[in-house]
Amino acid sequence: MKKMLFTCLTFSVLLISSTVSAENISNNNNNNNNNQKTKAMKFELPKLPYATNALEPVIGQQTIELHYGKHLQTYITNLNNLIVGTKFENVDLETIVKESDGAIFNNAGQTLNHNIYFLSFSPNGGGEPKGKLADAINAEWGSFENFKKEFVAAGVGVFGSGWVWLSKDNAGKLYITKEPNAGNPITKGNTPLLGFDVWEHAYYLDYQNRRADHLAELWKIIDWNAVSARY
Ligand SMILES: [Fe+2]
Repeated sequence: MKKMLFTCLTFSVLLISSTVSAENISNNNNNNNNNQKTKAMKFELPKLPYATNALEPVIGQQTIELHYGKHLQTYITNLNNLIVGTKFENVDLETIVKESDGAIFNNAGQTLNHNIYFLSFSPNGGGEPKGKLADAINAEWGSFENFKKEFVAAGVGVFGSGWVWLSKDNAGKLYITKEPNAGNPITKGNTPLLGFDVWEHAYYLDYQNRRADHLAELWKIIDWNAVSARY
């Protein structure tokens, strides 16, 4: 009887020990997964300061939902996955864009580009910049109208997918530059102020092949307060 009781107790202890051990392993796995998830979720979609239909008719709701919710989200997800286990795992976005190449550069560049792009709009935007940015634009191009013409012409002149950028150098001098694909003037030492996306995904639903018409309309929704704050 004593022997039987001892056997039962031993079996119970083993069973409890085995359960606790399994729980520990399970918890450890969950923690590892959570850690991986935390690292993989490093970069996130920026919150839009407007509703997805608020920029109509310049940019349609479906375009915003796809461009912001799908295209940008995909760049961010790809970037988060690609940097795991690399030297870029705990590095800020601008540094990744400056120092990476290949797939990491493409997805980091597009994440940075679109973050700037989507935070340059307002349903109450339009008009002209004021203050020192306006002064710098006038100094470089003579007038705001001339600047807009040159900016749109540069955007129309990008062959294939890419961006047209207004940027400044360390002395505050302004530049209009064309960049292919995920390019950003930050890679050449300049600070990006305003970028128009000339990938077809930015305008095809609303303007089909009429890129010039799309670029000409964008001025109506530019948030010059946001753009000027980058100058
Ligand atoms: Fe885009």
